[in-house]
Amino acid sequence: MRAVVIDQFGGLEVLKQQTIPVPEATHEDVLVRVGAVGINPVDWKTRIGEGVASQITGFPFVLGWDVAGTIVAKGRRVTRFEVGDRVMGMVNFPSGGGGCAEYVLTRDTNVAAIGDSISFRDAAAVPLAALTAWQALFDTAHLQSGKRVLVHAAAGGVGHLAVQLAKWKGAFVIGTASERNHQFARSLGCDEVYRYDGDVPPWTRIDDVDVVLDTIGGGTRERSLKVLGRGGMLVTLLTGDSKAGLNAPTRVKKILVKPNERELEQIAQLMNEGALQVHTTAVSGLRNVTEAHSLSESRHVRGKIVVTL
Ligand SMILES: NC(=O)c1ccc[n+]([C@@H]2O[C@H](COP(=O)([O-])OP(=O)(O)OC[C@H]3O[C@@H](n4cnc5c(N)ncnc54)[C@H](OP(=O)(O)O)[C@@H]3O)[C@@H](O)[C@H]2O)c1
Repeated sequence: MRAVVIDQFGGLEVLKQQTIPVPEATHEDVLVRVGAVGINPVDWKTRIGEGVASQITGFPFVLGWDVAGTIVAKGRRVTRFEVGDRVMGMVNFPSGGGGCAEYVLTRDTNVAAIGDSISFRDAAAVPLAALTAWQALFDTAHLQSGKRVLVHAAAGGVGHLAVQLAKWKGAFVIGTASERNHQFARSLGCDEVYRYDGDVPPWTRIDDVDVVLDTIGGGTRERSLKVLGRGGMLVTLLTGDSKAGLNAPTRVKKILVKPNERELEQIAQLMNEGALQVHTTAVSGLRNVTEAHSLSESRHVRGKIVVTL
């Protein structure tokens, strides 16, 4: 099968197309023919030796953790799925990857069925970002109806799904985004949107927030602590950046997304119902994984980047 592999950490030039063996499904594994692979910041961060680079098991390594496709083979212990089922999943995170290929092998618990009306392009964009938003807002911050939540980078991959999940829960949602994304953020459900790059910084205009979802880190995280109300919590996704703002441990939680079968099924259900919608920019073909990395690295993508196969 064709795959995009890296043999070392480095710039875009280390991404190479190669032919490698198709893995074999045994035990609890399913083999998925990849219809689309979602590219997340963790792809390029790991490519340059950051992200989850310390957890990968060696080279050659196939990046790509978000996939959607069709099950083409399964291990003998797999009872939840049949060959031919359409699925999406965050596969083999963090140590394995393997999504930037024609086929990927993964535990059956890493994937969930998707309805026929959901395209592979949309489905591949969702698992990692939606699980992250879910685990930050619901598992960590226990966001409840009527609470006030601030979502930084509300137009980004995690942010645009987090806004919708928070609205679904009944929260009052405040977002930050550059001005060109304000209408988009409102269309997702933001009740208020603030420029993060304007003359008046958002933390001078927002107060009494119950939950901050920090997708930025550094000074943004430190200053965002000022907008928290009594008992408020900031959940940060930046696990490897500076220590700024991390000196208030009871109010700050750091998370790394984990696979979760039950949550992924609920996310798939929300997509099937149309309650969670994903915005994607797509490039076509594994040869364009390089372009997808480059776009993600720009840090100004609206929604998600997907490579369709
Ligand atoms: N810990 C975990 O488990 C975990 C999981 C997922 C992601 N992450 C991390 O979380 C971060 C966000 O991930 P993502 O997938 O959402 O990234 P992304 O899609 O690349 O984020 C892009 C968005 O960020 C916005 N943005 C850029 N600088 C900003 C700023 N200073 N303030 C507010 N918004 C800003 C851009 O909006 P404009 O174009 O409007 O400027 C753009 O829409 C990344 O660093 C990623 O590695 C961690």
